[in-house]
Amino acid sequence: MLDCGQKDVKEVVMAHKNYIDGLWVTSSQEVFASVNPANRDDVLGEFPRSTAEDADAAVEAARKAFPAWRELSRIKRGEYIDTFAQLAKARTEELAKLVARESGKCLSEARADVVEGIHMAQFTSGRARMPFGDVIASEIPEKDAFMLRKPKGVVAVISPWNFPFAIPLWLILPSLLEGNTVVFKPAEDTPLAGQRIVELFEEAGLPPGVLNLVQGHGSEVGWPLVVHPKVDVILFTGSSEVGSRIRQAAAADHHKYAVCEMGGKNAIIAFEDADVSLAAAAAVTSAFRTSGQRCSAASRLIVHQDILDRFLDSFLRMTKGMRIGEPQDERTFMGPVINEGAMNKVLGYNELAKREGATVLLDGGRMSGPGYEKGWFLSPFVYQMRHGSDARCLREEVFGPHVAVIPFTTRDEAVTIYNDTEYGFILSVITNDYRIMREMRERCDFGVGYVNLPTIGAEVHLPFGGLKKSGTGLPSASTLIDAVTHRIAWTVNHAKEIKLAQGLSAKVE
Ligand code: UN1
Repeated sequence: MLDCGQKDVKEVVMAHKNYIDGLWVTSSQEVFASVNPANRDDVLGEFPRSTAEDADAAVEAARKAFPAWRELSRIKRGEYIDTFAQLAKARTEELAKLVARESGKCLSEARADVVEGIHMAQFTSGRARMPFGDVIASEIPEKDAFMLRKPKGVVAVISPWNFPFAIPLWLILPSLLEGNTVVFKPAEDTPLAGQRIVELFEEAGLPPGVLNLVQGHGSEVGWPLVVHPKVDVILFTGSSEVGSRIRQAAAADHHKYAVCEMGGKNAIIAFEDADVSLAAAAAVTSAFRTSGQRCSAASRLIVHQDILDRFLDSFLRMTKGMRIGEPQDERTFMGPVINEGAMNKVLGYNELAKREGATVLLDGGRMSGPGYEKGWFLSPFVYQMRHGSDARCLREEVFGPHVAVIPFTTRDEAVTIYNDTEYGFILSVITNDYRIMREMRERCDFGVGYVNLPTIGAEVHLPFGGLKKSGTGLPSASTLIDAVTHRIAWTVNHAKEIKLAQGLSAKVE
């Protein structure tokens, strides 16, 4: 394995490869570079800009490996995942440094990303020894009925840069455990972290073809995977625009199934009885961790008018106190955004909010000066605005350090504001009133809810997925088993003659 220390890469830019059928192979001549978003001079390596041909080779390898892999015992498949977990755990720090360097996430968040991936591996390998079907009663006493699961075949995993370790593993691990084989395309911003996952599986002795890696751009190699006739399942996490195109493409093919985890316009609702400093701390963490680039980040702080002044005092003080800078410095709270395009998008939304009538409380912008010149560093943009359903900045996903404070007075108003976006991912309610908690749980459209917590920090053994434009209704992580298996009914008759349900007769007169 390569050392991921910054010093080693300055002089030599490593050329990396795809991994197909158990071999590291080159693609066409074209390459793209992985660049540290905190320091453009720091290149992590060059990677193949793969094509439809590479996608095809990877799918064929996965197809070929499928029969033997699915016939292996479930426990044995789980053991490969257990070995992977142990290898990754022993390298947590090395992997965390790489994730911080390649994605710009602060070290503590990068470490949490790696730990979340390891948790997923521990959970999935343990699941190998757990039931994966049900015994079901029959009308006929001599009949035993079962619900069993079969793997679907070849799974294409297309994952985002913001959780370059955990999210691919949420998707890859249940697929492998259930007997599917996988073609994995990591995000083009974090190819080295994706490669590390595959290297660890190679070290764990995974048979050739079971997990294949193709690097490159979504349009050039991702899309050929999506429309490939021999791909059975597409697991995608990324933007709603791409997700919706993937869903449409999958619907055109009778055997294909797509699970897409997409954006959010998540909110914290702080009620009049809230502990204001807890609310402010939850807000800072939700809005600015990963520089607001999580599908779980909060970009709306819906705050009761009675506590608005105290909340703003505390929230703005904490925000101004955040240390922004080098992600690999343990004390940093917020790093850069991922690339120039992301920076311009956030700056565009800051301007849009101003045009739409925002009262700017902290004006965000590109940061300059020592430590910031070579990276995509943005300062936080915080504004206050009354709810109005025509304001795009209050309804569209920004994916950056851009957050609105929206006052409210009644519970009905809080619910209306929360639900007034096309998304429905994460809700956090700050209150000590159990009636309010319950009312918000029942009336708000979300998939992942919290009380007195930030909107981030979900755990792998819970479902993770949103409603409306945020998801396809089938959450990732622990619940993904339903996407990568087909549930079959299996009924066995123990009587000597045929006995049928519903009073049906098998008698031939
Ligand atoms: C994402 O932002 O795409 O709850 C996933 C969280 C993390 C997962 C976020 N455990 O913030």
